[in-house]
Amino acid sequence: MEAKDVEDTESNFRWCWFLLVSVIAILVIVAGVLAILEDLKDSKKDSASHHPGPVVKKYADALEIALQFFDGQKSGKLVNNRIGWRGDSGLLDGIEMNLDLSKGMYDAGDLMKFGFPMAFTATMLSWAILEYEENMKTAKQLGHARDSLKWITDFLINAHPSENVLYIQVGDPELDHQCWERPEAIRGIRPLTQVNTSFPGTEVAAETAAAMASASLVFKKIDSSYSNLLLEHAQQLFSFADAYRGSYSVSIPQVQNYYNSTGYEDELLWAAAWLYHASKDLSYLKYVTELNGQQFANWGNPTWFSWDDKHAGTHVLLSRLNIFGAKGMSSEENLDLQMYRKTSEAIMCELLPDSPTATSSRTKVLLSMQVVWYGSQNGTACNMLWLLHF
Ligand SMILES: *[C@@H]1O[C@H](CO)[C@@H](O)[C@H](O)[C@H]1NC(C)=O
Ligand SMILES: *[C@@H]1O[C@H](CO)[C@@H](O)[C@H](O)[C@H]1NC(C)=O
Ligand SMILES: *[C@@H]1O[C@H](CO)[C@@H](O)[C@H](O)[C@H]1NC(C)=O
Repeated sequence: MEAKDVEDTESNFRWCWFLLVSVIAILVIVAGVLAILEDLKDSKKDSASHHPGPVVKKYADALEIALQFFDGQKSGKLVNNRIGWRGDSGLLDGIEMNLDLSKGMYDAGDLMKFGFPMAFTATMLSWAILEYEENMKTAKQLGHARDSLKWITDFLINAHPSENVLYIQVGDPELDHQCWERPEAIRGIRPLTQVNTSFPGTEVAAETAAAMASASLVFKKIDSSYSNLLLEHAQQLFSFADAYRGSYSVSIPQVQNYYNSTGYEDELLWAAAWLYHASKDLSYLKYVTELNGQQFANWGNPTWFSWDDKHAGTHVLLSRLNIFGAKGMSSEENLDLQMYRKTSEAIMCELLPDSPTATSSRTKVLLSMQVVWYGSQNGTACNMLWLLHF
């Protein structure tokens, strides 16, 4: 293939995954709009009630349609399928290792299951549900959102069959990308790729831990045994990620052509932050502050939020602890949390148009009109942070 072709193919496929992340961002934005509308209504009513009011139909419809995108991407034996043209697929995935990796979601127009971006999608979907649960419920979409999340976490649980092994990919991307076909037409057994102690993948294991820890919060009230199972996997995966440090892009160079990772420090902090929220175990708080804050957090340097770089998400997630306080925190930990909050504020100041530090690429980033695949993804992910911060 010509270099140009390779580039085109890659950007096409990479471009596609952001659809999933964009969908989450859209539903967050819609849920955010619903929340704002309700707040306005509440303030007019002069009452202290926080129950969401009647839903604005067009926004509720947008939320419903956005969530249906996940149904279109599902692999496995479909349950309550709402998409007429989709059927069962990928039923043999994992079979050669005696694993059921049939669920999960396809990357895009291709039929690959790429663990790294899939886990990030689950983390973001969890976050969206945790923040906007009431609004999704009012719009009758909470069940669909949870189902889609569970479709991914069921896969991730099965992809982690022992403490230090995580399957991070199903399918051969080279072969897959040679032929554009329906998932229902997949034939034969597809190759699996794992990370382990000799070939570590810190970012992918830590992102999977973040996905499971955040999802354990989503399922806490409705299915406590599933929630505990997720937390257990998350804790094991985090220990694996931290004890065997190494980028999966180095261990398995073939992944560089698809979802190349530029580092794992951000995923370690991001996962530990979610694990702290999910378990309230103070060792995770110490991990993100005293133990690794200085070295990994890149304090004072605002960055964009993407499937590859979770610094910004971590800053926003941890700045809330600084605002609302956590029990049993030492003063050092508190000082370090302030650094997360300050960096989070710096990120917001880059996004605000009239701030002295406003970024010149704000329109590009926020309105995400670029054709470059990074464009909308960074924009939508940043939109979410922005909504959450204020
Ligand atoms: C560990 O992972 C590497 C990379 O995926 C793989 O080649 C190797 O076979 C795995 N080790 C074991 C014991 O399965
Ligand atoms: C993947 O990322 C690494 C680290 O940033 C970089 O050195 C490498 O060239 C990248 N690989 C590709 C194929 O872009
Ligand atoms: C989007 O994020 C990627 C990865 O973090 C970064 O390399 C790229 O420069 C960002 N794009 C824009 C427009 O900010």
